[in-house]
Amino acid sequence: MAAKLRLEGKVAVITGGASGIGEAAARLFTAQGASVVITDIQDTLGQSVSASISPPGCCTYIHCDVRDEAQVAAALALAVDTYGRIDVMFSNAGIVGTMATILELELADLEAVLAVHVRGTAAAIKHAGRAMVAAGTRGSIICIASVAAVQGGYSPAAYAAAKHAILGLMKVAAGELGEKGVRVNCVSPFGMATPLWCRAVGLSPEDAEKVASEAAVLKGAVLRTGDVAAAALFLASDESAFISGHNLVVDGATTMVSTSLDSALQNHFARSREE
Ligand SMILES: NC(=O)c1ccc[n+]([C@@H]2O[C@H](COP(=O)([O-])OP(=O)(O)OC[C@H]3O[C@@H](n4cnc5c(N)ncnc54)[C@H](O)[C@@H]3O)[C@@H](O)[C@H]2O)c1
Repeated sequence: MAAKLRLEGKVAVITGGASGIGEAAARLFTAQGASVVITDIQDTLGQSVSASISPPGCCTYIHCDVRDEAQVAAALALAVDTYGRIDVMFSNAGIVGTMATILELELADLEAVLAVHVRGTAAAIKHAGRAMVAAGTRGSIICIASVAAVQGGYSPAAYAAAKHAILGLMKVAAGELGEKGVRVNCVSPFGMATPLWCRAVGLSPEDAEKVASEAAVLKGAVLRTGDVAAAALFLASDESAFISGHNLVVDGATTMVSTSLDSALQNHFARSREE
C-alpha cells in the first residue's frame, strides 16, 4: 500500500508563491497531496508556476498584494470556494526594501518595508485564523521571519525591524488562536540565492550561494529554497501537531555559534607570520 502523503486532503494558501521559497513550497505541498492557492503580485510568473504544477487543477493563482487586507481576504475566500476549506496558510511574501543604515533611514522607506512584512503577515494570520476558527479547522499558520529576527548584522535596519515584528505577531497569534486549536509558527532562514537576496547583496545566484555557504557554520551543505519549503511542510503537516509558537531557524547553526573571535585570532596570527 502506498504511504499516505504528508498533506493529503489539505488546502494551503501561500503568499509570494510565484518565486523563490514560496514557489518551492507550492511544488512541495502539492507533491505531498495538498491543493494550493498561490498568491503574488508577479502575475505572469505566478500563473506560469501554477500552470506548471501537476496534477492539473491542484494549484490556482490569484493576484494578491499582501499590503491590501481586502486582497488577502479575497485570496482566502478563493481557496475556500475552489477547494472547500483552508488548512494551511504560509505567509511568505517579502521584500528587502531600503538598504539604509539607521543613521540614513528615511522613515517612509521603513514604512514601506513594514507594510509588506507586518501588515501582510497580520492580514494573513487574521483572515486565515478567522476562516479556520469559523470552520472549526485545526489549521496551521506559518510565517516567515529570518536570521535577521534572531541576531543583528544580517540585514539593514528596516528589514530586521519587520522580521522581529513578525516573530511578535506569531507569538501572540499562537496564544490567541491556540485556544481554538490553530497552530502558528515561523520559519527563519539564513541567506540563500533567491531573486530577493541576490538583488539585496548584488550578486549572481552562483556567487550568492558561495558567499552564503562560506558564512554558514554548517559545511558540506548549501541552503536552498527546498530546505525552507521542507521546514514549512513539517510545520504544515500533522507531524508537528503539538508544535506552536515556535521559530524554526533554518541556518546551519549560524546564529548559534559566533565565529568572530576565531576569525580575529586567525587574522592576528596570519599578520604576525607576515611581519
Ligand atoms: N532568500 C533569503 O535569503 C531569505 C532569508 C530569510 C528570509 N527570507 C524571506 O523569505 C520570503 C520569500 O523570499 P524569497 O527569498 O523566496 O524571495 P523572492 O523574491 O524569490 O520571493 C518573494 C515573493 O514575494 C512577492 N512579493 C513581494 N511583495 C509582495 C506584496 N506586496 N504582495 C504579494 N507578494 C509580494 C514577490 O513578488 C516574490 O514573488 C521573504 O519574506 C523573505 O524575507 C528570505
